Amino acid sequence: MLMISCNYPSKGRTFLAGKNLLGLLLFLAPFLSSSQTSLRSQQSEKDFVKSNFQFAGAQLKKTLAETENGPKSFPRTTDRNGKLLGSSMEDWTTGFFPGSLWMTADFNKDTTLESAAIAWTEKLEPLKFYTKNHDLGFMMYCSFGNAYRLTNNKAYKEVLIQSAKSLCTRYNPAVGCIKSWNTFRSWHGNATYNFPVIIDNMMNLELLFFASKETGDTMYRHIAVSHALHTMQNQIRSDYSSYHVVCYDSLSSKVVARETAQGYADNSTWSRGQAWGIYGFTMCYRETKDKRFLKTAAGMADWYINNKNLPTDKISYWDFNAGEPGYTPGINSKALKTQTNPILRDASAAAITASALLELSRYVNDKKTGEYRNIALQIIHTLSGPDYKAAPGTNGGFLLKHCVGSIPHGAEVDEPLVYADYYYLEALKRYHDWYLK
Ligand code: GLY
Repeated sequence: MLMISCNYPSKGRTFLAGKNLLGLLLFLAPFLSSSQTSLRSQQSEKDFVKSNFQFAGAQLKKTLAETENGPKSFPRTTDRNGKLLGSSMEDWTTGFFPGSLWMTADFNKDTTLESAAIAWTEKLEPLKFYTKNHDLGFMMYCSFGNAYRLTNNKAYKEVLIQSAKSLCTRYNPAVGCIKSWNTFRSWHGNATYNFPVIIDNMMNLELLFFASKETGDTMYRHIAVSHALHTMQNQIRSDYSSYHVVCYDSLSSKVVARETAQGYADNSTWSRGQAWGIYGFTMCYRETKDKRFLKTAAGMADWYINNKNLPTDKISYWDFNAGEPGYTPGINSKALKTQTNPILRDASAAAITASALLELSRYVNDKKTGEYRNIALQIIHTLSGPDYKAAPGTNGGFLLKHCVGSIPHGAEVDEPLVYADYYYLEALKRYHDWYLK
């Protein structure tokens, strides 16, 4: 496996539009309306989930075969020829491959995948002392979190608690937030900011809630709640769309800039950022039962699913406003140069949104439950169709095609991404556990 470099050129592939919407609606109609047929359909939906996990098992084994010397470089994406690319242990994505191994090993009861999950997870243990980014929640909760959930191994719990301690070193009580990146250089070329917070950071809070529950120390939870409240206030617009990056002055604690790093423009809505927000605020509501978080999660979800720019197959463009009048990328962003016609979709944003909507559907009233669940199912079925799901044995072993890492950086444009696969598997599992059992 090759190691990934920071930036590499886009392929400029065009996207094949989803074609199976009608088929899906016809398929789901009886399942949603008639109890007689729903039993049959329920069985076929169980088979659908099972066959996708079997596919995942085979693809993960292909990746394992390409990393036969064991956990060295962590699978992240592919190059333009479909060859697997990995990253060093410190990359924000390293928890997703072990996490996918755990979920698939568990669903398929596959001991080969379980052994691999243990090896790839334990390789990450030194990160428990890592403090150089805010991504420890992704890195450790997706790997060790799944490991602990499935094995109850107390050593894994200790790793998670130490990781939460490390994450808390990035909390600034004056600002009330965890610092995401160490610095952020504006695409406009006129400023570098020293306390950037990105919407993605909502995802790292789950590790902190876990640490408080396990230790009884409310410090972790306090930090998570403070971060979420500040994000709600400063990062979410009044219509429930989101800014990607909010920069604070760490002395005055004031917001000094609202910009984008991975979206099209400062005032646009980056699809994966919106997805992180829906997921993160839903999780915060689960952990706190604070209705403000539920209102924010539902507001962000409604903005996403009712957006005029959401395609009918519900797989969002990489940014909701890409190419629209009134939205202008910064002069140093590659968003204009890398822009394609048609505008690229991002299967990773769709997978995260599907998983989040399934959880959100459990916390809202009946009408909204059906709406969120049905859109999640539509996304899952579209991702599982030929437009997005890789042919067996291809795609470097990844499950989904057509993801976007960062168009402004010109990186991972229309490629597979390890985190798209992780949230796709989580969505399948949530569907199975919550709606098909
Ligand atoms: N957390 C980085 C990303 O979503 O690309």
